Amino acid sequence: MQTIIAPSILAANFANLQKDIEMVNSSSADWFHLDVMDGLFVPNISFGMPIVKSINNLTSKPLDVHLMIVDPERYINKFVDLNASIITVHYEACKNLKETLKKIRFNNIKSGVAINPETPINVIEEFIEEADLICIMSVNPGFGGQKFIKNTYNKIEKLNEIIIKNETSTLIEVDGGVSNINAEKLINLGANVLVSGNYIFKAEDPLKNINLLKSF
Ligand code: DX5
Ligand code: ZN
Repeated sequence: MQTIIAPSILAANFANLQKDIEMVNSSSADWFHLDVMDGLFVPNISFGMPIVKSINNLTSKPLDVHLMIVDPERYINKFVDLNASIITVHYEACKNLKETLKKIRFNNIKSGVAINPETPINVIEEFIEEADLICIMSVNPGFGGQKFIKNTYNKIEKLNEIIIKNETSTLIEVDGGVSNINAEKLINLGANVLVSGNYIFKAEDPLKNINLLKSF
């Protein structure tokens, strides 16, 4: 399959968000990646419903909502109402992960599980049937613009083995520090979705960088 590119809005210019959204609309990127942070699960607060609503009003591309919040099951219905196409919750933040994933799927939305860099990938096996997407964090969640953690490569390989063994069609997403330097290797190892913030939005020519990621 063609790699899905999901620009992370966290790195966009919030003083002129419309311009950056229109840039993504006109690009070959596939999804909008929206990082919602609560200041509890991660040491940062990003944005919430009003921004998600505004973005939804300006695009027809799918919204890939990454919830970095404690007990995310509390807010699934809210993001369903805001037209999310994918809702990803953290393994480390969820009291009852299976039920939360079922709740997401019940709304005909893709269910995702994100795992932190220090969490071993094998914990995912128990939930692989309920997850449409696994998001391997390649930085510690909370901030954009961090350095890519190379152990991500091993995690993709192991996740692939789990997916093959369980015969699921789970998508592998990689999030954090993704650029032209690591994209090709990530794709060759089996990544299906690349999230990228700074490499796209802080570039002189964002469209060119999106095309580059798409070309591998
Ligand atoms: C980190 C976020 C990422 C981040 C990616 O907590 O989940 O989505 O915004 O941004 P870059 O590509 O700049 O690392
Ligand atoms: Zn993210």
